[in-house]
Amino acid sequence: MFRSAAALCLAAGLLSATGSSEAAAPAAAGRLDHDPVPHQHWSFDGPLGNFDLASVQRGYTVYAEICSACHGMQHVHFGDLTGMGLTAAQVQTIAASHKIPDGIGSDGKPALRAATADDAFPTPPVAQGLIPGAVIPPDQSRLAEVYPGGPDRIYALLTGYGPPPAGVTPAPGLFYNRFAQGRAIAMPPPLSDDAVDYPDGTKATTEQEARDVTTFLAWAAQPHLADRHRTGVRVMIYLVFLGVLLFVLKRRLWSNVH
Ligand code: HEC
Repeated sequence: MFRSAAALCLAAGLLSATGSSEAAAPAAAGRLDHDPVPHQHWSFDGPLGNFDLASVQRGYTVYAEICSACHGMQHVHFGDLTGMGLTAAQVQTIAASHKIPDGIGSDGKPALRAATADDAFPTPPVAQGLIPGAVIPPDQSRLAEVYPGGPDRIYALLTGYGPPPAGVTPAPGLFYNRFAQGRAIAMPPPLSDDAVDYPDGTKATTEQEARDVTTFLAWAAQPHLADRHRTGVRVMIYLVFLGVLLFVLKRRLWSNVH
C-alpha cells in the first residue's frame, strides 16, 4: 500500500518533471494521509530479536480486559498462551473463564459452555457483524503482520488520539487520530492511564499499555519468531563451516596444478 502510494508520487513527479503542471495534483493525493509514524524500539526487532515475554503477558491483560470487548482473535487458541510463559493450569483457568457457544440446549435455546485450551478466542458480537450500523472491528490474530505500518503504527494509533487542530471536525461517529488513515477512526480511544492493573506491578500508563498490547499482538501474529531466529543462526553457522571446508578442499585438490 505504501509502496503503491510511493509509486504514484514517483510517477506523478516524473510526469511533472516532463512539463505537465497538472500532474502535481495526483502527487498530493498519493501522499500519506496521516502523520509520519515514529519508529519504536521493539524487543522482537532484527534478526536476533526475541519477545519480551513479561511484556507479552501484560499485553494479553490489556487485550483480555479492553480490546476483546470489540476485537476477536479467531486464529489464536487458549492453549497458545503457554507460549508466553503460562503453565497449562493457568491457561486452563483463563480458558474456563470464557463462555463459548455450544450448539442448542435441551430447552431449544443456544447453549454455552466453558472454553478449554483447545478452543479459539471467542469473537465478540460486534466483530461478527451482529450489531446493526456498527463499524466492524478487524480480527486481531494477524493484525500486527497485515496492518500497514505494522507494530510501530499500532503503537502510534493507540497513543495518537487527541483534540483535532482548529478547523478540523471528524465526521459524526469518528474520532480524531493523527495516525489513522484520513486522521479519523471509528474506534473510540481504547486506552487510558490505569485502565488495567498489571499483576507484576508495572505502572499502567497509556504508553505502557500501548507498548505491551502491541508486543502481544506481534507475538500472537508470529509465535514462532524466536524458534525461526534460532534456526536461522544454526543455518548460518553451518553454511560458514561448509564454506571453509569447501575452500580447504579446493586448495588441496588443485594444489598440484600450476
Ligand atoms: C469499543 C470497541 C473497540 C475497542 C474496545 C477496541 N477497538 Fe480497535 N477498532 C474498533 C473498530 C470499530 C475499528 C475499525 C475502525 C475503522 O475502521 O474506522 C477498530 C480498528 C482497530 C485497528 C485498525 C485501525 C485501522 O486503521 O484500520 C487497530 C490496530 C485496533 N483497532 C487496535 C485495538 C486495540 C489494540 C485495542 C485494545 C487496546 C482495541 N483496538 C480496542 C473498535 C474497538
